[in-house]
Amino acid sequence: MKKLRLGFVGTGGMGKAHIQSAKVAKNVELTAVCDIRKDVADAVGKEHNVPVFYNHHDLFKSGLIDAVMIVTPHYAHTTVAIDAFAAGYHVISDKPVAVHKADGMRMLEAQKAAAKKFGVMFQLRTSPANQKFKKLLESGELGEIKRINWIVTTWLRTQKYFDSGDWRASWRGEGGGVLLNQCPHQLDLFQWFFGMPNKVTAFCHLGKYHDIEVEDEVTSYMEFQDGKTAVFITSTGEAPGTNRLEVVCDRGRLVLDEGVLTFKRTESSVSEIIAKSSETFPAVPIWDVTIPTASNDISATEVFEKFANAVLNDQEPLVSGADALNGLELGNAMMLSSWLKKEVELPIDAELYERELMKLVKTSRYNPA
Ligand SMILES: NC(=O)c1ccc[n+]([C@@H]2O[C@H](COP(=O)([O-])OP(=O)(O)OC[C@H]3O[C@@H](n4cnc5c(N)ncnc54)[C@H](O)[C@@H]3O)[C@@H](O)[C@H]2O)c1
Repeated sequence: MKKLRLGFVGTGGMGKAHIQSAKVAKNVELTAVCDIRKDVADAVGKEHNVPVFYNHHDLFKSGLIDAVMIVTPHYAHTTVAIDAFAAGYHVISDKPVAVHKADGMRMLEAQKAAAKKFGVMFQLRTSPANQKFKKLLESGELGEIKRINWIVTTWLRTQKYFDSGDWRASWRGEGGGVLLNQCPHQLDLFQWFFGMPNKVTAFCHLGKYHDIEVEDEVTSYMEFQDGKTAVFITSTGEAPGTNRLEVVCDRGRLVLDEGVLTFKRTESSVSEIIAKSSETFPAVPIWDVTIPTASNDISATEVFEKFANAVLNDQEPLVSGADALNGLELGNAMMLSSWLKKEVELPIDAELYERELMKLVKTSRYNPA
């Protein structure tokens, strides 16, 4: 079988983990690694017996790769991807695709000019439970979706975690907190399941639980063009955390709680009951619908295999760069609403977001230069 020659840029904590997943992908061959930290790159290169580079330009000149996986801190996803496209390579970036929408758009422009494949590592999309949930939403079984409530607070992080890298949880080094580092997976799933809202209001608390510059608690309220509403709550400071996605629809309530699906289906349409019932306080009969347990397993290997297949057979990656921009925009919209202290409309003004972020970058206590 023809294999994609993949090089890694960034071989820190997650880079090392993704290398293991990529190496067992049936159509991927790890051919080089690159990290600006010589000791880190050397150790990984030695472990996997592949050539080592200390900056991505040298890797791109080597002729050893067809595509690059970027697992650096987030701001560099943009710079390395743009350079990779310009050098004629396909790109898969770790999440978040970029720090902000304007950077994401720059990456898409570079991809378009290069006519190369662009994938993003959102491995939660491979979970059978998430796929089943989406299928149910699309089946029409639920009737109109009225309201969404997602609490995802299973992202507890300690001060030690934030202190483990000087770039972490700073405006200059990372560009955001829980919206940019921990819950981009759920923001991506949110837009995949429900599409994009047209209005967002959010309250983001900066350093509420930790000694950090960025947000570690977010409460947001969203409205969609079709009338449905949503609340999305996330935090890195809670225990025990909750991961419960509840969808209120015309035929009952669908819940995905820690990967377990339950559906309480009303015997008839709730809107009809509201409009036509002769009672004032009706007890609404329901059926408990058993949904065969779908595994909640996730596979980064599958993301790599689909990306390699996209390159080798001119297909689409599991999650494309353009698709990944939606979840990024959603998180940016929440942050922007909180900064401006008002409701924001989508699509957001990418330049305004970048300007507001850069004001905070100027005040950032992380200043490596
Ligand atoms: N998909 C997931 O579930 C998942 C999980 C954790 C982290 N991540 C993502 O992985 C990325 C890296 O996070 P991490 O926890 O591995 O951080 P880390 O600090 O452990 O590793 C980052 C590495 O990148 C290197 N680096 C920095 N700039 C570079 C550059 N320009 N060129 C080459 N190497 C460079 C650093 O020296 C470091 O070794 C982040 O964007 C994060 O969001 C994804």
